[in-house]
Amino acid sequence: MSPPPRTALIALDGIADGGFAETEAVLAGDAESLILHRQGSEVRAWLNICPHAGRRLDWAPGQFLKSKDGLLVCAAHGASFELMQGECVAGPCRGESLRAVAVEVRDGQVWLASP
Ligand code: FES
Repeated sequence: MSPPPRTALIALDGIADGGFAETEAVLAGDAESLILHRQGSEVRAWLNICPHAGRRLDWAPGQFLKSKDGLLVCAAHGASFELMQGECVAGPCRGESLRAVAVEVRDGQVWLASP
């Protein structure tokens, strides 16, 4: 059994279903921007750092691009990421992946999972 989650990140209802949100969390002592993506009652999270050139993926804080075919598109140079593993499937960092961050949904909140 996993240890209890610790840090509340955002209310689940604060993320549109199928959409994204951005929040900050302290990971290993560093404040990091996170991408949160909701699908129904599930949320996935990645560091908001594009593997191409290290830029944030949002064009304004919390404003992420989603393509017609459901890919997360980096606003800097258009790298496109699928939303299960965060793998870049098109663009300049094809084959690389966003760095996943473990989160849990409990009691209507998204929590940073314990390491
Ligand atoms: S920094 Fe994301 S595509 Fe270049």
